[in-house]
Amino acid sequence: MNILILGSGGREHAFAWKIAKSSSCNKLFIAPGNAGTGEVGENVDINVNDFKSIKEFVLAEEVELVLVGPEEPLVNGIYDFFQQDSKLRSISLIGPSADGAQLEGSKKFAKEFMMRHDIPTARYQAFTKENLNEGYDFIDSLHAPYVLKADGLAAGKGVLILENIEDAKNELEAMVTKSKFGEASSTVVIEEFLDGVELSVFVLTDGESYKILPSAKDYKRVGEGDTGLNTGGMGAISPVPFADRFYIEKVEREIIRPTIEGLKSENITYKGFIFFGLINVKGEPKVIEYNVRMGDPETEVVIPRITSDLLNLLKGINHGTFSEKDLEITNEFAATVMLVSGGYPQSYENGKEISGMESIDTSLIFHSGTKNDGCIKTNGGRVLALTSFGATINSALEKSYETAEKISFEGKYYRKDIGFDL
Ligand code: AMP
Ligand code: GLY
Repeated sequence: MNILILGSGGREHAFAWKIAKSSSCNKLFIAPGNAGTGEVGENVDINVNDFKSIKEFVLAEEVELVLVGPEEPLVNGIYDFFQQDSKLRSISLIGPSADGAQLEGSKKFAKEFMMRHDIPTARYQAFTKENLNEGYDFIDSLHAPYVLKADGLAAGKGVLILENIEDAKNELEAMVTKSKFGEASSTVVIEEFLDGVELSVFVLTDGESYKILPSAKDYKRVGEGDTGLNTGGMGAISPVPFADRFYIEKVEREIIRPTIEGLKSENITYKGFIFFGLINVKGEPKVIEYNVRMGDPETEVVIPRITSDLLNLLKGINHGTFSEKDLEITNEFAATVMLVSGGYPQSYENGKEISGMESIDTSLIFHSGTKNDGCIKTNGGRVLALTSFGATINSALEKSYETAEKISFEGKYYRKDIGFDL
């Protein structure tokens, strides 16, 4: 079958790399893709939110399955766009409906959903400029640090964690009255701070049954020891040692199953990935956030650990055969180290030539922000995700760090302590 993957990061390269190996994969397209995806499939110059061009393309190329990488087209309703079009309806689009995508598109919706279905999460309230004073009172009722979240999508920047109560009140005001994060912060969720170790659990569902994918931990801060500014993610490890079989069973019982059942009972169509951002508070898993897609760089450790045919599994989602399909996972650890451009997550320069990749055979190299200009150049803050396997976290990391040394581009930076807390 012909497949189209939407997106342009390391997540999409990892998906493309895996799907290209499937015996059912005929032509593989990635829109818009990057230099790495161009090596395993054909890049197509279409924006992920340009539904009209996507339609023309999938019909012209007889695409039968569309895998949506990032959240934005999902929140914008690409699933519904396909369902409402008689020519597109029979194409499998992997991702939730716009209603389902609200789990990520609106923090308030997600919190209310968790309340309705008794899913453990931080205590919260939501505020707008109409009830700002109640927001100040709610802040007074909490202890530091204070967690403020813009309701809508804010490109990963809409969460503030503040130590000082006056700062928290000022930021709340700036968010709701001065559109600090644009329309996304016209509603703000304020919640209790939870102290614990974070981990991510991923599920693939056809809306009826589900399969639990490997767990992972990502490292969001730019600096060692989890310091400095937030980034898209500087590295990842899978599996997470404390998330053993018993722990995952608890997550399944208290969080995954109620989520799937809750979506079903509310008639919300959901055929895709659910990313549970969890925090472990004294052995109790609680939901910090839902995402309606896979994580990046978590995908770069989770997908390579799957040894069975991913495309076969995805095909089952719209053919009523999903629950019968195999999902096999290696016991080995996978570790990803992200090479980023100097200056990231603030300003950085693109267009730096990358060298040293040809000789690498101990790691997988997933491109995050690259471009093929005759030679491969940097084209983003996060540039390459280097994934290696090992019997232990350290042996996997060691290989990724060796690879990190062998690859060069001007301004290259990476964290040297990925996995330090495991
Ligand atoms: P989110 O975009 O909701 O994932 O939030 C970004 C990051 O903020 C999370 O990965 C956590 O590190 C942190 N965070 C969010 N909510 C809380 C909370 N209630 N308690 C502690 N940390 C939080
Ligand atoms: N790595 C976190 C995310 O994809 O949201």
